[in-house]
Amino acid sequence: MADLMSKIISLAKRRGFIFLSSEIYGGFGSCYDFGPLGVEMKNNIKKAWWEEMIKNHEDMVGLDAAILMSSKVWQASGHLTAGFADLLVECKSCHKRFRADEIKIKKCPECGGQLTEPRKFNLMMRTLVGPVEEEASTTYLRAETCQGIYVNFENILNSMRLKIPFGVAQIGKAFRNEITPGDFIYRTREFEQMEMQWFCHPKEAKKYFDYWTKERLKWYENLGIKKENLRIKEVPAKERPHYARQALDLEYKFPFGWKEIEGIHNRGDWDLSNHSKYSGKDLRYYDEETKEKYFPYIIETSGGVDRSFLAFLSEAYQEIPGGRTKTTKPTKEIEILLKLHKALAPIKVAVLPLVRNKPKIVKKAKEVYQLLKPHFVCQYDELGSIGRRYRRMDEVGTIYCLTVDFESLEKEDLTVRDRDTMAQERVEIKDLIKVLKEKLEN
Ligand code: GAP
Repeated sequence: MADLMSKIISLAKRRGFIFLSSEIYGGFGSCYDFGPLGVEMKNNIKKAWWEEMIKNHEDMVGLDAAILMSSKVWQASGHLTAGFADLLVECKSCHKRFRADEIKIKKCPECGGQLTEPRKFNLMMRTLVGPVEEEASTTYLRAETCQGIYVNFENILNSMRLKIPFGVAQIGKAFRNEITPGDFIYRTREFEQMEMQWFCHPKEAKKYFDYWTKERLKWYENLGIKKENLRIKEVPAKERPHYARQALDLEYKFPFGWKEIEGIHNRGDWDLSNHSKYSGKDLRYYDEETKEKYFPYIIETSGGVDRSFLAFLSEAYQEIPGGRTKTTKPTKEIEILLKLHKALAPIKVAVLPLVRNKPKIVKKAKEVYQLLKPHFVCQYDELGSIGRRYRRMDEVGTIYCLTVDFESLEKEDLTVRDRDTMAQERVEIKDLIKVLKEKLEN
């Protein structure tokens, strides 16, 4: 299985999905860069989530809060105290640190040295804000995006004239000084979250916790994750984050095992009551009808963009020994097919001239490419045999390959090849945009 993961990592680098950050300097701190295809796919994941939250649900609004906030936010949220810390052990010989819960034996996994007793290690990343270092104030890169939502609770409520229950959705970067980052982009120090906070009456918290759990599972399934590769793990009280009254992890079966991709939390009134206490602002909600004043409970769905990226990539990756084509003899090569959902695939359409030594065919193909480019993420490729170009496109999950051939010059049409079935149909160039839009939406 580790072997499968290294193949996925190799594809991700070779085909421009993910690169190691600062690679020419040997990489940096377990951070990654999303390449030309990676950024398209990542944007597609975020778009699918945003549309799901904002378009498919009522009483939902969006926010884009700053990464840097007053350090008081992090005092109030409990992130600066013991709440947001991992237990770590350190090797007395090589001084490497490990998460205590990941150490199976009482020796250093690197050099066999003796380990210290577990100590708490805070995960917040500190920084200085201000032009003069001595006078600069210390704050932290946010460790979760949702705090920006809580501190804006009143602003959002008043400006949008909302009533409980309602939700606020946000996508953005978060940072944690993880002790043992690893498994490629699974655990990194800089990552992106897609978080939704649902504010409701305490009596309705359980109902909405169950509702949002089902909604989130459905979202992954609708985007191509098989039911059997998803599961729910209820988090026992002693393992729950400091703010949670109830928590569960949505887990995906990665090539390296079952791991969390999203957390669903009932945060109770932890956040709003603490921000009230620390800021001196009364953040209770007043219900005009019942005349009740209370701290709403918060049901949170907290997903990772990077983790779901890795889950979608792992799910889509297929190897076909000898290849899929039946019209030529099977080769010894292994063909890779990236069966990404249409909404997530980075390239929707590729335009391929059948041959590149016939100027009229090349000219027509370039015209088609220019025609489609404003409408779809589109790529033009004329290098290598047509079969090889199909393989290259299958490997990155391109949904349709359009081939301009000799017949195209007479009939003003071309072939549209489907990635999954490899079936080809001729479509007139004048109808292309409409036909492709319909196909991609269904
Ligand atoms: N606001 C709640 C919260 O942040 P969490 O369970 O700590 O909850 C939520 O994180 C999600 O954020 C995780 O399920 C995961 O997808 C993502 N995440 C957390 N730490 C991460 C890391 N170091 N690298 C990549 N993704 C991470």
